[in-house]
Amino acid sequence: MTAPYDPEEREKVVAKLPASLRQELKVRAAQLGMDIKDAVTEGIHAWRQDPSAAAPVDTSGATSFSTYLPTGLYAAFKEDCKARDVAYNQGVAQSIRLWIDAHPVTGRRRPEVGTARRLIVCNQKGGVGKSAISNGLSQALAEEGARVCIVDFDPQGHLTRHLGQELLGIKSPSLAKHMLGEADGRVRDLLVPIECGAFAGRLFLLPACKDAFLLDAKLATTRHVRTKETALEKALEELEKEFDYIVVDCPPSLGYTMDTALYYARTREGEAPKSSGAIIPVQSEDTSADAYDMLSEQIEDLVDDLDIEIAQLGFVVNLYDSRKGFVVTSSLDSWKSFGDPPVIAIIGDLKEQREAVRLKQPLLHYAPDCEQAEAMREIARSVTA
Ligand SMILES: Nc1ncnc2c1ncn2[C@@H]1O[C@H](COP(=O)(O)OP(=O)(O)O)[C@@H](O)[C@H]1O
Ligand SMILES: [Mg+2]
Repeated sequence: MTAPYDPEEREKVVAKLPASLRQELKVRAAQLGMDIKDAVTEGIHAWRQDPSAAAPVDTSGATSFSTYLPTGLYAAFKEDCKARDVAYNQGVAQSIRLWIDAHPVTGRRRPEVGTARRLIVCNQKGGVGKSAISNGLSQALAEEGARVCIVDFDPQGHLTRHLGQELLGIKSPSLAKHMLGEADGRVRDLLVPIECGAFAGRLFLLPACKDAFLLDAKLATTRHVRTKETALEKALEELEKEFDYIVVDCPPSLGYTMDTALYYARTREGEAPKSSGAIIPVQSEDTSADAYDMLSEQIEDLVDDLDIEIAQLGFVVNLYDSRKGFVVTSSLDSWKSFGDPPVIAIIGDLKEQREAVRLKQPLLHYAPDCEQAEAMREIARSVTA
Protein backbone atom coordinates (compact mmCIF):
# COMPACT_ATOMS: atom_id res chain seq x y z
CA MET A 1 0.00 0.00 0.00
CA THR A 2 1.35 3.45 -0.85
CA ALA A 3 0.25 6.66 0.82
CA PRO A 4 -1.67 9.23 -1.26
CA TYR A 5 0.06 12.56 -1.94
CA ASP A 6 -0.79 16.03 -3.18
CA PRO A 7 1.03 16.88 -6.46
CA GLU A 8 0.70 20.64 -5.86
CA GLU A 9 2.63 20.76 -2.59
CA ARG A 10 6.33 19.99 -2.54
CA GLU A 11 8.78 18.96 0.16
CA LYS A 12 12.53 19.04 0.14
CA VAL A 13 14.23 15.69 -0.10
CA VAL A 14 17.89 14.81 0.05
CA ALA A 15 19.72 11.87 -1.47
CA LYS A 16 23.29 10.88 -2.14
CA LEU A 17 24.16 10.67 -5.83
CA PRO A 18 27.35 10.35 -7.86
CA ALA A 19 28.48 13.66 -9.39
CA SER A 20 28.34 12.27 -12.93
CA LEU A 21 24.68 11.34 -12.61
CA ARG A 22 23.79 14.73 -11.09
CA GLN A 23 25.56 16.46 -13.94
CA GLU A 24 23.84 14.32 -16.57
CA LEU A 25 20.47 15.08 -15.02
CA LYS A 26 21.17 18.80 -14.90
CA VAL A 27 22.30 18.97 -18.52
CA ARG A 28 19.47 16.81 -19.89
CA ALA A 29 16.81 18.72 -17.96
CA ALA A 30 18.22 21.99 -19.30
CA GLN A 31 18.34 20.66 -22.86
CA LEU A 32 14.68 19.75 -22.59
CA GLY A 33 13.78 22.98 -20.80
CA MET A 34 12.53 21.07 -17.74
CA ASP A 35 12.88 21.66 -14.03
CA ILE A 36 15.10 19.15 -12.29
CA LYS A 37 12.45 18.51 -9.66
CA ASP A 38 9.90 17.56 -12.35
CA ALA A 39 12.39 15.27 -14.04
CA VAL A 40 13.12 13.48 -10.74
CA THR A 41 9.41 13.26 -10.00
CA GLU A 42 8.77 11.63 -13.38
CA GLY A 43 11.65 9.23 -12.84
CA ILE A 44 10.32 8.17 -9.45
CA HIS A 45 6.85 7.61 -10.90
CA ALA A 46 8.33 5.43 -13.62
CA TRP A 47 10.43 3.52 -11.08
CA ARG A 48 7.42 2.86 -8.86
CA GLN A 49 5.19 1.81 -11.74
CA ASP A 50 7.48 -0.72 -13.36
CA PRO A 51 9.91 -2.63 -11.11
CA SER A 52 11.26 -4.55 -14.10
CA ALA A 53 12.51 -1.35 -15.82
CA ALA A 54 15.00 -0.38 -13.11
CA ALA A 55 18.64 -1.44 -13.26
CA PRO A 56 21.35 -1.08 -10.59
CA VAL A 57 23.40 2.13 -10.73
CA ASP A 58 26.96 2.54 -9.46
CA THR A 59 26.61 5.04 -6.64
CA SER A 60 30.21 5.06 -5.42
CA GLY A 61 31.58 8.49 -4.58
CA ALA A 62 28.08 9.85 -4.05
CA THR A 63 27.55 13.26 -2.50
CA SER A 64 24.52 15.13 -1.29
CA PHE A 65 21.82 16.20 -3.76
CA SER A 66 18.55 17.87 -2.89
CA THR A 67 15.36 18.51 -4.79
CA TYR A 68 11.64 19.03 -4.20
CA LEU A 69 9.12 16.24 -4.63
CA PRO A 70 5.34 16.46 -4.40
CA THR A 71 4.47 16.13 -0.73
CA GLY A 72 3.93 12.51 0.24
CA LEU A 73 5.78 11.02 -2.73
CA TYR A 74 8.98 10.70 -0.69
CA ALA A 75 7.30 8.64 2.01
CA ALA A 76 5.53 6.46 -0.57
CA PHE A 77 8.76 5.98 -2.49
CA LYS A 78 10.66 5.00 0.66
CA GLU A 79 8.06 2.37 1.41
CA ASP A 80 8.46 0.99 -2.09
CA CYS A 81 12.23 0.91 -1.69
CA LYS A 82 11.81 -1.12 1.49
CA ALA A 83 9.32 -3.46 -0.14
CA ARG A 84 11.63 -4.01 -3.12
CA ASP A 85 14.69 -4.29 -0.87
CA VAL A 86 16.50 -1.46 -2.59
CA ALA A 87 18.50 1.15 -0.62
CA TYR A 88 16.87 4.57 -0.79
CA ASN A 89 19.84 6.32 -2.50
CA GLN A 90 20.06 3.47 -5.00
CA GLY A 91 16.32 3.85 -5.68
CA VAL A 92 16.70 7.58 -6.39
CA ALA A 93 19.70 6.92 -8.65
CA GLN A 94 17.77 4.26 -10.57
CA SER A 95 14.79 6.59 -10.96
CA ILE A 96 16.97 9.35 -12.37
CA ARG A 97 18.69 6.91 -14.71
CA LEU A 98 15.27 5.77 -15.94
CA TRP A 99 14.22 9.35 -16.65
CA ILE A 100 17.45 10.21 -18.48
CA ASP A 101 17.25 7.07 -20.62
CA ALA A 102 13.61 7.76 -21.45
CA HIS A 103 14.48 11.31 -22.59
CA PRO A 104 17.22 11.15 -25.18
CA VAL A 105 18.32 14.32 -26.95
CA THR A 106 18.74 13.93 -30.67
CA GLY A 107 20.36 16.23 -33.23
CA ARG A 108 22.41 19.36 -32.77
CA ARG A 109 22.06 20.94 -29.39
CA ARG A 110 19.89 24.00 -29.81
CA PRO A 111 18.46 26.16 -27.06
CA GLU A 112 14.77 25.77 -26.40
CA VAL A 113 12.58 28.69 -27.34
CA GLY A 114 12.64 31.19 -24.51
CA THR A 115 15.97 30.02 -23.15
CA ALA A 116 18.44 32.02 -25.20
CA ARG A 117 22.03 31.47 -24.22
CA ARG A 118 23.57 34.68 -22.98
CA LEU A 119 27.21 35.41 -23.72
CA ILE A 120 28.83 38.57 -22.46
CA VAL A 121 32.20 39.72 -23.75
CA CYS A 122 33.86 41.72 -21.03
CA ASN A 123 37.01 43.36 -19.74
CA GLN A 124 37.14 46.88 -18.37
CA LYS A 125 40.35 47.46 -20.30
CA GLY A 126 39.77 49.20 -23.61
CA GLY A 127 41.22 48.04 -26.92
CA VAL A 128 41.57 44.36 -26.02
CA GLY A 129 39.10 43.24 -28.68
CA LYS A 130 35.72 43.05 -26.91
CA SER A 131 33.86 44.60 -29.82
CA ALA A 132 35.80 42.69 -32.47
CA ILE A 133 35.14 39.39 -30.69
CA SER A 134 31.46 40.04 -29.86
CA ASN A 135 30.95 40.92 -33.47
CA GLY A 136 32.90 38.02 -35.05
CA LEU A 137 31.55 35.45 -32.58
CA SER A 138 27.96 36.53 -33.31
CA GLN A 139 28.56 36.23 -37.04
CA ALA A 140 30.11 32.77 -36.59
CA LEU A 141 27.13 31.58 -34.53
CA ALA A 142 24.64 32.96 -37.06
CA GLU A 143 26.58 31.43 -39.94
CA GLU A 144 25.96 28.03 -38.29
CA GLY A 145 22.22 28.61 -38.34
CA ALA A 146 21.61 30.17 -34.92
CA ARG A 147 19.48 33.28 -34.45
CA VAL A 148 21.73 35.84 -32.80
CA CYS A 149 21.24 39.28 -31.32
CA ILE A 150 24.35 41.38 -30.63
CA VAL A 151 23.82 44.01 -27.98
CA ASP A 152 26.13 47.02 -28.20
CA PHE A 153 26.24 47.85 -24.49
CA ASP A 154 29.13 50.30 -24.77
CA PRO A 155 27.94 53.92 -25.05
CA GLN A 156 30.90 54.62 -27.32
CA GLY A 157 29.12 52.51 -29.94
CA HIS A 158 32.19 51.10 -31.67
CA LEU A 159 30.44 47.87 -32.55
CA THR A 160 27.45 49.72 -33.96
CA ARG A 161 29.75 51.79 -36.15
CA HIS A 162 31.85 48.77 -37.17
CA LEU A 163 28.69 47.29 -38.62
CA GLY A 164 27.99 50.48 -40.52
CA GLN A 165 25.00 51.39 -38.35
CA GLU A 166 23.99 54.63 -36.63
CA LEU A 167 23.92 55.07 -32.87
CA LEU A 168 20.41 55.62 -31.54
CA GLY A 169 19.54 59.28 -31.00
CA ILE A 170 20.02 60.55 -27.46
CA LYS A 171 16.31 61.35 -27.11
CA SER A 172 15.11 58.10 -28.77
CA PRO A 173 14.08 54.95 -26.96
CA SER A 174 17.19 52.93 -26.14
CA LEU A 175 18.32 49.93 -24.14
CA ALA A 176 19.36 52.15 -21.21
CA LYS A 177 15.93 53.85 -21.18
CA HIS A 178 14.22 50.47 -21.22
CA MET A 179 16.44 49.33 -18.35
CA LEU A 180 15.40 52.35 -16.33
CA GLY A 181 11.73 52.03 -17.23
CA GLU A 182 11.87 55.33 -19.13
CA ALA A 183 10.94 54.07 -22.61
CA ASP A 184 7.65 53.16 -24.26
CA GLY A 185 7.42 50.54 -26.95
CA ARG A 186 9.40 47.36 -27.28
CA VAL A 187 13.11 46.67 -27.26
CA ARG A 188 12.44 44.48 -30.31
CA ASP A 189 11.65 47.61 -32.31
CA LEU A 190 15.19 48.91 -31.78
CA LEU A 191 16.84 45.96 -33.54
CA VAL A 192 18.56 46.40 -36.89
CA PRO A 193 19.09 43.39 -39.20
CA ILE A 194 22.63 42.78 -40.48
CA GLU A 195 21.70 41.62 -43.90
CA CYS A 196 24.89 40.55 -45.63
CA GLY A 197 26.92 37.35 -45.58
CA ALA A 198 26.06 33.78 -44.78
CA PHE A 199 24.24 34.96 -41.65
CA ALA A 200 21.68 37.22 -43.31
CA GLY A 201 18.24 36.91 -41.76
CA ARG A 202 19.61 35.55 -38.50
CA LEU A 203 21.85 38.34 -37.19
CA PHE A 204 20.45 41.43 -35.51
CA LEU A 205 22.05 44.37 -33.72
CA LEU A 206 20.70 46.32 -30.78
CA PRO A 207 22.58 49.57 -31.44
CA ALA A 208 24.26 51.65 -28.77
CA CYS A 209 23.05 55.01 -27.52
CA LYS A 210 25.17 57.63 -25.77
CA ASP A 211 22.63 57.81 -22.94
CA ALA A 212 24.29 54.66 -21.56
CA PHE A 213 27.07 56.93 -20.28
CA LEU A 214 24.59 57.96 -17.56
CA LEU A 215 23.47 54.46 -16.75
CA ASP A 216 25.85 53.84 -13.85
CA ALA A 217 24.82 57.02 -12.08
CA LYS A 218 21.13 56.35 -12.65
CA LEU A 219 21.34 52.74 -11.50
CA ALA A 220 23.18 53.91 -8.37
CA THR A 221 20.28 56.11 -7.35
CA THR A 222 17.40 53.87 -8.38
CA ARG A 223 14.88 53.32 -5.64
CA HIS A 224 13.80 49.91 -6.89
CA VAL A 225 15.35 47.22 -4.76
CA ARG A 226 17.60 44.94 -6.84
CA THR A 227 16.95 46.85 -10.09
CA LYS A 228 20.67 47.41 -10.08
CA GLU A 229 21.44 43.85 -11.06
CA THR A 230 18.32 42.77 -12.90
CA ALA A 231 17.77 45.77 -15.17
CA LEU A 232 19.48 44.34 -18.25
CA GLU A 233 17.82 40.97 -17.88
CA LYS A 234 14.37 42.53 -17.60
CA ALA A 235 14.92 44.75 -20.62
CA LEU A 236 16.17 41.92 -22.83
CA GLU A 237 13.70 39.32 -21.62
CA GLU A 238 11.34 39.79 -24.58
CA LEU A 239 14.16 38.90 -27.01
CA GLU A 240 14.77 35.50 -25.50
CA LYS A 241 11.91 33.89 -27.39
CA GLU A 242 13.25 35.07 -30.69
CA PHE A 243 16.96 34.35 -30.40
CA ASP A 244 19.18 31.36 -29.67
CA TYR A 245 22.04 33.58 -28.51
CA ILE A 246 22.23 37.05 -27.08
CA VAL A 247 25.79 38.37 -27.17
CA VAL A 248 26.58 41.47 -25.14
CA ASP A 249 29.55 43.70 -26.00
CA CYS A 250 30.27 45.17 -22.58
CA PRO A 251 31.53 48.67 -21.80
CA PRO A 252 35.10 49.23 -20.59
CA SER A 253 34.05 49.83 -16.98
CA LEU A 254 33.38 48.02 -13.74
CA GLY A 255 30.36 49.93 -12.48
CA TYR A 256 26.74 48.99 -11.95
CA THR A 257 26.26 48.67 -15.70
CA MET A 258 28.78 45.86 -15.70
CA ASP A 259 27.02 44.24 -12.75
CA THR A 260 23.81 44.07 -14.78
CA ALA A 261 25.70 42.31 -17.58
CA LEU A 262 27.37 39.84 -15.22
CA TYR A 263 24.04 39.08 -13.56
CA TYR A 264 22.48 38.54 -16.98
CA ALA A 265 25.16 35.96 -17.86
CA ARG A 266 24.67 33.95 -14.65
CA THR A 267 23.77 30.29 -14.87
CA ARG A 268 20.03 30.21 -14.31
CA GLU A 269 18.27 27.51 -12.37
CA GLY A 270 17.91 24.46 -14.58
CA GLU A 271 20.32 25.80 -17.17
CA ALA A 272 23.20 23.52 -18.14
CA PRO A 273 26.52 24.68 -16.69
CA LYS A 274 28.46 26.98 -19.04
CA SER A 275 25.52 27.47 -21.41
CA SER A 276 25.75 31.14 -20.62
CA GLY A 277 28.61 33.14 -19.18
CA ALA A 278 31.47 35.53 -19.74
CA ILE A 279 34.10 35.49 -22.47
CA ILE A 280 37.13 37.54 -21.52
CA PRO A 281 39.38 38.99 -24.22
CA VAL A 282 42.85 39.71 -22.85
CA GLN A 283 46.25 40.64 -24.17
CA SER A 284 49.55 39.01 -23.47
CA GLU A 285 50.93 41.69 -21.19
CA ASP A 286 51.13 42.45 -17.48
CA THR A 287 48.54 45.24 -17.38
CA SER A 288 45.99 42.79 -18.79
CA ALA A 289 46.62 40.47 -15.84
CA ASP A 290 46.00 43.35 -13.39
CA ALA A 291 42.78 44.21 -15.20
CA TYR A 292 41.61 40.61 -15.00
CA ASP A 293 42.27 40.53 -11.24
CA MET A 294 39.86 43.41 -10.81
CA LEU A 295 37.21 41.89 -13.06
CA SER A 296 37.53 38.57 -11.34
CA GLU A 297 37.10 40.23 -7.94
CA GLN A 298 33.94 41.94 -9.15
CA ILE A 299 32.56 38.62 -10.39
CA GLU A 300 33.35 36.95 -7.06
CA ASP A 301 31.70 39.75 -5.09
CA LEU A 302 28.54 39.47 -7.13
CA VAL A 303 28.52 35.70 -6.88
CA ASP A 304 28.86 35.91 -3.09
CA ASP A 305 26.42 38.77 -2.56
CA LEU A 306 23.63 37.33 -4.68
CA ASP A 307 24.38 33.63 -4.26
CA ILE A 308 24.55 33.00 -8.00
CA GLU A 309 26.87 31.22 -10.40
CA ILE A 310 28.63 33.07 -13.20
CA ALA A 311 30.58 30.91 -15.62
CA GLN A 312 33.80 32.30 -17.01
CA LEU A 313 33.77 30.52 -20.35
CA GLY A 314 37.29 31.39 -21.35
CA PHE A 315 40.01 33.84 -22.23
CA VAL A 316 40.64 34.93 -25.78
CA VAL A 317 44.26 36.05 -25.97
CA ASN A 318 44.05 38.74 -28.63
CA LEU A 319 46.58 40.70 -30.68
CA TYR A 320 49.19 38.10 -29.83
CA ASP A 321 52.65 38.61 -31.31
CA SER A 322 55.38 36.32 -30.02
CA ARG A 323 58.04 38.42 -31.79
CA LYS A 324 57.57 41.01 -29.06
CA GLY A 325 59.63 38.86 -26.71
CA PHE A 326 59.46 37.01 -23.45
CA VAL A 327 57.02 39.33 -21.66
CA VAL A 328 54.45 38.39 -24.29
CA THR A 329 55.26 34.68 -24.42
CA SER A 330 55.50 34.24 -20.64
CA SER A 331 52.27 36.16 -20.23
CA LEU A 332 50.55 33.73 -22.61
CA ASP A 333 51.84 30.91 -20.41
CA SER A 334 50.27 32.62 -17.38
CA TRP A 335 46.88 32.83 -19.10
CA LYS A 336 47.14 29.18 -20.02
CA SER A 337 48.13 28.22 -16.50
CA PHE A 338 44.74 29.32 -15.17
CA GLY A 339 43.20 26.18 -16.65
CA ASP A 340 39.79 27.39 -15.54
CA PRO A 341 38.82 29.59 -17.29
CA PRO A 342 40.67 28.04 -20.23
CA VAL A 343 42.29 29.90 -23.12
CA ILE A 344 39.77 29.24 -25.91
CA ALA A 345 41.58 31.07 -28.72
CA ILE A 346 44.79 32.92 -29.46
CA ILE A 347 44.49 35.56 -32.17
CA GLY A 348 47.32 37.40 -33.84
CA ASP A 349 47.36 41.03 -34.91
CA LEU A 350 45.65 40.54 -38.24
CA LYS A 351 45.05 43.01 -41.01
CA GLU A 352 41.61 41.76 -42.06
CA GLN A 353 40.11 42.78 -38.70
CA ARG A 354 41.29 46.37 -39.15
CA GLU A 355 40.23 46.41 -42.79
CA ALA A 356 36.74 45.12 -42.02
CA VAL A 357 36.36 47.86 -39.39
CA ARG A 358 37.58 50.53 -41.78
CA LEU A 359 35.19 49.33 -44.48
CA LYS A 360 32.35 48.92 -41.94
CA GLN A 361 31.71 45.37 -43.03
CA PRO A 362 31.12 42.23 -40.98
CA LEU A 363 34.45 40.38 -40.87
CA LEU A 364 33.00 37.00 -41.85
CA HIS A 365 31.44 38.59 -44.91
CA TYR A 366 34.46 40.70 -45.84
CA ALA A 367 37.07 37.94 -45.45
CA PRO A 368 35.29 34.67 -44.68
CA ASP A 369 38.40 32.53 -45.07
CA CYS A 370 40.93 34.65 -43.17
CA GLU A 371 42.65 33.52 -39.99
CA GLN A 372 40.65 35.96 -37.88
CA ALA A 373 37.34 34.60 -39.22
CA GLU A 374 38.53 31.07 -38.42
CA ALA A 375 39.41 32.20 -34.89
CA MET A 376 35.88 33.52 -34.44
CA ARG A 377 34.47 30.17 -35.54
CA GLU A 378 36.80 28.46 -33.08
CA ILE A 379 35.45 30.62 -30.25
CA ALA A 380 31.89 29.84 -31.38
CA ARG A 381 32.62 26.11 -31.39
CA SER A 382 34.21 26.33 -27.99
CA VAL A 383 31.25 28.09 -26.36
CA THR A 384 28.61 25.90 -28.02
CA ALA A 385 30.35 22.57 -27.36
N1 LIG B 1 43.19 40.47 -33.65
C1 LIG B 1 43.14 41.72 -34.11
N2 LIG B 1 43.95 42.09 -35.12
C2 LIG B 1 43.93 43.35 -35.58
N3 LIG B 1 43.18 44.31 -35.07
C3 LIG B 1 42.38 44.02 -34.06
C4 LIG B 1 42.30 42.71 -33.52
N4 LIG B 1 41.38 42.70 -32.51
C5 LIG B 1 40.90 43.95 -32.43
N5 LIG B 1 41.49 44.75 -33.34
C6 LIG B 1 41.27 46.17 -33.56
O1 LIG B 1 41.74 46.87 -32.42
C7 LIG B 1 40.87 47.92 -32.09
C8 LIG B 1 40.33 47.72 -30.67
O2 LIG B 1 39.56 46.56 -30.65
P1 LIG B 1 38.08 46.55 -30.03
O3 LIG B 1 37.46 45.27 -30.39
O4 LIG B 1 37.35 47.78 -30.42
O5 LIG B 1 38.46 46.58 -28.47
P2 LIG B 1 37.53 46.88 -27.19
O6 LIG B 1 36.13 46.66 -27.60
O7 LIG B 1 38.00 45.92 -26.15
O8 LIG B 1 37.82 48.29 -26.80
C9 LIG B 1 39.76 47.90 -33.14
O9 LIG B 1 40.06 48.79 -34.16
C10 LIG B 1 39.80 46.48 -33.65
O10 LIG B 1 39.31 46.37 -34.97
MG1 LIG C 1 34.50 47.96 -27.53
